[in-house]
Amino acid sequence: MADLAVTIAGIQFKNPVLTAAGPTTRDGESLLKAASGGAGGLVTKTVSVKPAAVAKPNMAVLQPGKVGSRRGMLNAELWSELPLDRWIKYEYPLALGSGLPVIASIGYTPQEVSQIGPMVEEAGVSAIEFSTHYVGGHKEIAKTLRDCVSIPIFAKLSPQVDVAKVAKELEQSVDGIVAINTLGPCLHIDIETGRPVLGGEKGYGWLSGAAIKPLALRCVADIAQTVKIPVIAVGGVMSGEDAVEFFMAGASAVQVCTAAILDGPSVYGKISTEIGDWLDKHGHKSIESIRGLALSSIGKTTAFTYPPTVDTARCNFCGLCSKSCVYSAISVNKEKEFFQIDRKKCAACGLCVAICPQSALSAS
Ligand SMILES: Cc1cc2nc3c(=O)[nH]c(=O)nc-3n(C[C@H](O)[C@H](O)[C@H](O)COP(=O)(O)O)c2cc1C
Repeated sequence: MADLAVTIAGIQFKNPVLTAAGPTTRDGESLLKAASGGAGGLVTKTVSVKPAAVAKPNMAVLQPGKVGSRRGMLNAELWSELPLDRWIKYEYPLALGSGLPVIASIGYTPQEVSQIGPMVEEAGVSAIEFSTHYVGGHKEIAKTLRDCVSIPIFAKLSPQVDVAKVAKELEQSVDGIVAINTLGPCLHIDIETGRPVLGGEKGYGWLSGAAIKPLALRCVADIAQTVKIPVIAVGGVMSGEDAVEFFMAGASAVQVCTAAILDGPSVYGKISTEIGDWLDKHGHKSIESIRGLALSSIGKTTAFTYPPTVDTARCNFCGLCSKSCVYSAISVNKEKEFFQIDRKKCAACGLCVAICPQSALSAS
């Protein structure tokens, strides 16, 4: 059985699946539920000096009522609606009772974090994650925090900054980088009412979930290639396989927000178990043995031999590859169990290999 424990900035996590700042970590009680659901560590909802006044409604899925609702979601939440003193007196102590490391997310200006930082440290949390979410000022905030707390500091980056550049600037003053926050602002219109689905002045929201995973992966890989401090990945982790992808891109742990909103707190344990199963199946003893595995291939030209070969024992002649072959290189006939790739027409685009639900096509 693979060892799932990870140590980041001296903090020991029993598994690498952490909560992320959001509605599933909005108070001590929800954090305890996440702990019971199998999370390896608890990152709390962002707290600032004043409670947030949040637009209602503030959460929507991209395709209501359809399978595609798991593609992603939009939200117009801000930081915590609870006052800071309540977090200090009640919510952090409750979460700390879980016995798991607690990382307090705080925001936003240098002045605000210099007030909140020492208070959360005093409350007993293991580390601080600061979120700038498009407000910027990463360097000043990191420096301010470094001067007023002695626990580890993690900087959470938005995907719309040059993440590698910002991470490099922060490397000396923080203990790790968390990437990414949500993407936006975005808009979703209910075509029955003709109105934005979300409330607030403009009805704008921020995109999270499966839809942002490729962006998050690119950000994590960019950061991991640029700095030596640990990277905690967040953005579209819905399964153990998603997490494995992030470890291969250089992440030391993952955070989960949207999947926990959609599937409930047991999703942390489920993802953790899936990571363990994947490692076991592939003969790896720990996350460390796959961490950054993909980075050596990034930046190198990948040349495959085309056209792909087909494994006729696997092919069920569904025709998906033929339908999506924009070069008309593939002919499939289900009745006759016929499959052919026209070598002259194949442009080596790779889509058929990627799209085949049977994994019947391959190119080496
Ligand atoms: C409803 C909602 C509220 C969020 N609130 C916060 C927050 O308070 N602070 C923060 O840094 N990120 C916040 N996030 C961003 C998440 O922590 C995470 O970075 C992002 O959703 C991507 O991860 P996911 O795809 O697993 O959701 C929020 C996300 C959602 C969906």
